[in-house]
Amino acid sequence: MSDSPTPHRRRPRYRGKNPRAFHEKYKEHDPGRFPETVQKVLDSGKTPAGTHRPILVAEILEVLAPQPGEFVVDCTFGYGGHAEAILRRIATKAGGHLLALDTDPLEGPRTLERLRGAGFGPDVLTWERRNFAGLAGVLAARRSGGADMILADLGISWMQLDVPARGFSMKNDGPLDMRMNPGRGPTAAEWLSKARPETLARALAENADEPRAEAIAAALAGKFFPTTRALAEAVSNAVPAPVREETVRRVFQAVRIAVNEEFGALDMLLRTLPGCLAPGGRAAFLTFHSGEDRRVKAAFKEGRRAGVYAEIAEEVIRPGVLERRDNLRASSAKLRWARRA
Ligand SMILES: C[S@@+](CC[C@H](N)C(=O)[O-])C[C@H]1O[C@@H](n2cnc3c(N)ncnc32)[C@H](O)[C@@H]1O
Repeated sequence: MSDSPTPHRRRPRYRGKNPRAFHEKYKEHDPGRFPETVQKVLDSGKTPAGTHRPILVAEILEVLAPQPGEFVVDCTFGYGGHAEAILRRIATKAGGHLLALDTDPLEGPRTLERLRGAGFGPDVLTWERRNFAGLAGVLAARRSGGADMILADLGISWMQLDVPARGFSMKNDGPLDMRMNPGRGPTAAEWLSKARPETLARALAENADEPRAEAIAAALAGKFFPTTRALAEAVSNAVPAPVREETVRRVFQAVRIAVNEEFGALDMLLRTLPGCLAPGGRAAFLTFHSGEDRRVKAAFKEGRRAGVYAEIAEEVIRPGVLERRDNLRASSAKLRWARRA
């Protein structure tokens, strides 16, 4: 038996000077014990394993202008970075409340626990594992008169992307899953194995603007790829070497969007959004590729024309040079906002 109060545990073994695989990055997973390592990762513009850095926080606070006592819906809770910044503004007065939704049953409870630890109790913060497509129903059951603010930061979080077992990552090998809610619907491997070439070609073109959609669809559709690496290799073999990496990225994006029916959910949220906002209420959407941005832009423009929105963003707001340098993952972000009439 050892005298030591905390038994010594060997660090995970890895090849080379620095850990590469997600599970080997034990220092990043334990920021309390290794703050310098975490700071080094942040300084290099990367995101520490198992976390997510919120994007355009100051700009979102500026366009939403949260006031003490207001009621807010964060449709995409994620790691809770935006939620925490908003809570610090609204929770200082009675009635201030943030309702957080996320379709992910694994990360949501962790984020809730972290924010509870930061002092946000059930009186100011609630979380529901829900798809934001059902926001109108969730709100109807909770609050009459609509929300003062609604935020949607689309896509997946970096925790989801990083964890190999979730099957989103083209860099870390794992089962080809890609479901934000692992309890619902087919995995990416199942979806691809049943997809017809024309369905897959349409998904590649619409979800990721893939210029070689038909050729890639012919090579992949109807085949079973058990792992992310198997899919990445099949895509690489189907296209010329200079475009391999960007094509793999686009195919992963297109399949992820299809498996999670992301555009259907976004269209539904945009359709029901005006009815979910109180008069004068503000909405902000953070998008990461053209398929998302096109939809938000068109819905806001149409709402403005119909007089549902009193004001919408004239120009898209993008991260500045500093944020793009500090957070490499911010470079494709676009922010649009609208104010209900
Ligand atoms: C980019 S992250 C949000 C990060 C968050 N703003 C933060 O500061 O940490 C997107 C999150 O939205 C969730 N999500 C994506 N589509 C969704 C949907 N249709 N309904 C609910 N949650 C969704 C994902 O599971 C993911 O956790």
